[in-house]
Amino acid sequence: MNKKLRKAVIAGNWKMNKTRQEAAALINEIKPLVAGAGCEVVVCVPFTHLETALAATAGSNVKVGAQNCHWAASGAFTGEISAGMLADLGVGYVIVGHSERRQYFGETNLTVNGRVRAGLDAGLTVILCVGELLEEREQNITEEVCSLQTKIALAGVSKAELQNIIIAYEPVWAIGTGKTATAAQAGEVCGFIRGVVAGLYDQAAADGLTIQYGGSMNAANAAELLAMPDVDGGLIGGASLKAPDFAAIIKAAND
Ligand code: PGA
Repeated sequence: MNKKLRKAVIAGNWKMNKTRQEAAALINEIKPLVAGAGCEVVVCVPFTHLETALAATAGSNVKVGAQNCHWAASGAFTGEISAGMLADLGVGYVIVGHSERRQYFGETNLTVNGRVRAGLDAGLTVILCVGELLEEREQNITEEVCSLQTKIALAGVSKAELQNIIIAYEPVWAIGTGKTATAAQAGEVCGFIRGVVAGLYDQAAADGLTIQYGGSMNAANAAELLAMPDVDGGLIGGASLKAPDFAAIIKAAND
């Protein structure tokens, strides 16, 4: 398996943080630090900041993503945002199935699948999040959980469409806790997920799929995590809110 077959993608997940003004300022700070990066750089900002982020990133190598989208194209879904609306703005990426959505907003594997489908149909690149809870790791069912989440989320996704999918392996116990998975743990599960994808499609499709690790990745631990053969990038929460830290992770991906 050749890591060079895949594009490295470092994506910031800003979650529910920053005013619009702060968002523009952070992007303006990030841009010169990551200009010429060898990996893809994405910032996933709150819906209300998408236009600000698109304007601030115009002409740069920083891409803009959203943090969720609805499964329907339109309709009576008060408070929701469709993938088509995101594409209409010029947004290129969307995070789907983040564990905070699963934990706090009743997201299920089936609704995640619907949102993946909607993102692809709108022409977005979907960052699909999977990962086990601490109890699940302790019960030795990490692989079962990640396999189930991956298989259901990708139901109905063709091999060609897989090119617009990035999988982010995010062990829930590592998110926002400062408790990073070891490089070995991250590499092992990312490799396992690649095997699941190979089983669903074929080895070539799996070899071309970008799989990120996420969960307390930071400037200090990024290089070790990104050096693992099956870890092709990162989905970064806390550390993506500080330009020097985010840039250091991107530098680690380039190296
Ligand atoms: P964290 O968040 O880097 O703050 O742990 C990662 C994520 O939730 O995507």
